[in-house]
Order: sequence, then C-alpha cells, then structure tokens
Amino acid sequence: MKIIVTENYEEMSKKAAEVIKDVVKNDKNAVLGLATGTTPIGLYKELISACEKKEISFKKVKTVNLDEYVGLPKSHVQSYDYFMKDNLFNHIDIDIENTNLPCGDVKDLDAECARYTALLGKMQQSVQLLGLGSNGHIAFNEPGTSFDSTTHIVALTENTIKDNSRLFDDISEVPTKAITMGIKNIMNAKKILVIASGKNKAQAVYNMVKGPVAESCPASVLQNHKDVVVVVDKDAASLL
Ligand code: GLP
Repeated sequence: MKIIVTENYEEMSKKAAEVIKDVVKNDKNAVLGLATGTTPIGLYKELISACEKKEISFKKVKTVNLDEYVGLPKSHVQSYDYFMKDNLFNHIDIDIENTNLPCGDVKDLDAECARYTALLGKMQQSVQLLGLGSNGHIAFNEPGTSFDSTTHIVALTENTIKDNSRLFDDISEVPTKAITMGIKNIMNAKKILVIASGKNKAQAVYNMVKGPVAESCPASVLQNHKDVVVVVDKDAASLL
C-alpha cells in the first residue's frame, strides 16, 4: 500500500483527484469505480474543475458505483443516484448512459444483484475509489462480510445507520438495507484509491493498514491487493 498523509481535507481531495485524473488522461476509455459519502465531495469538485479547464474529458469514460440504499427512489435527495448526478455527473461532459449504479428500488433485488455482478464482469474498474466507514466497512460491506462476496443485499449495522443519519431529517428515515458491490468485485479493480478524513476514521485507517487481514475489518482485505493508494489527512492518519 502506498500511503499519502496530507495536512487537511482540501489537500487530500487534490492529491486523490490527481490519481483519478492520471487514469483518465492515460486512458480515455477508463472505467471509474465511484463512491458516495461526504468524503469524496471535494475530490469530485476537483474533477469538475479539471473538466471545465479542459484538462480532462469524460466523454468516453464509463463509471460503476459501489452501492445504493434499498427502497429509496432515484429522485430521493439521499439516494446515491441523486448524489452522483448532483455532485459529479451533471457537471462534467460524461454521457449519462455510460454511468452505472446498482438499483435499490426494484421488486426483484436478487435479479438486480445478478445483473450488477454480470455488468462488473464486463467492466473491470481501471481505478476504484473507496471511502471508509468508521467501522472499517467499504462500500456497504459491513464487518463479517465474506471476502468472496459479489453484489448482495445487506442489513446495515446500527453503527452505519447512526453515522449516515446525519444526512437525513430523522434516524427513522435512514434505510436499513442496501445493495452493494461485494468485496470480490472491489478487489477485481486494477487499482484502488482509498480516501479518509477526520479523527473518527483513525481507527478504521489503522485497522485497514496495520491490523490483521480479517473479515471483522472489511478494509483490511486491501492489504492483499497489489496496487492500492491511500490518501488520508493527518487526523485520519493519527493512529498510524
Ligand atoms: C457509506 C457508504 C460508503 C462510504 C461511507 C463513509 O456507508 N456506503 O461507501 O465510504 O458511507 O461515508 P463518509 O465519507 O460520509 O464518511
């Protein structure tokens, strides 16, 4: 793992954006694995700005997102579909037809998991961006998830529901289930870029980098990947 520690969130966003920009510059047909959460917002702003300055173009880029809540319509402001349009897709020159998210608002969730896994089989991520849950989850793969997992439905832990409730009016509105890429789908990416900011991520960063490789900390599996770049601010790196 290559670990880059930055002074603050802004510098983390810029450094991490450089990694994605390099991938897009070197491969116009790149497949970007994208993430939601508050951590990537600054990075997405950097990508928007680079696209506006014509440093990079997303015209031929394809994207696959990590996860989505179950039961929220795409139009819901907290759905990950909405988030991606609002924070990135609506502001860059990407063809929206080339963007992909799992859908959590369908009757047959098993069929949707199979569809998404098949799609990922055809589209290896040139780079997969990951945030980190405070309990070490990646995408919505909670502690205990099998390292062999592919796209599946998860019951969110109380910890994750509490963490994510800050974005909803009330904790009772946070969905209790999600559809997520599995750990095997994430590990299949050619390159993985992890970002984290703030003291509440310090333990998870420590467990990811220095802890044992164990299903109790999903992010620890990244120690087994040959090309991982971790960009964290000094608060998130404080236990390393
Ligand atoms: C959610 C997402 C994860 C994300 C995590 C951290 O649970 N499913 O992909 O990494 O939140 O979010 P934040 O960046 O807001 O701390």
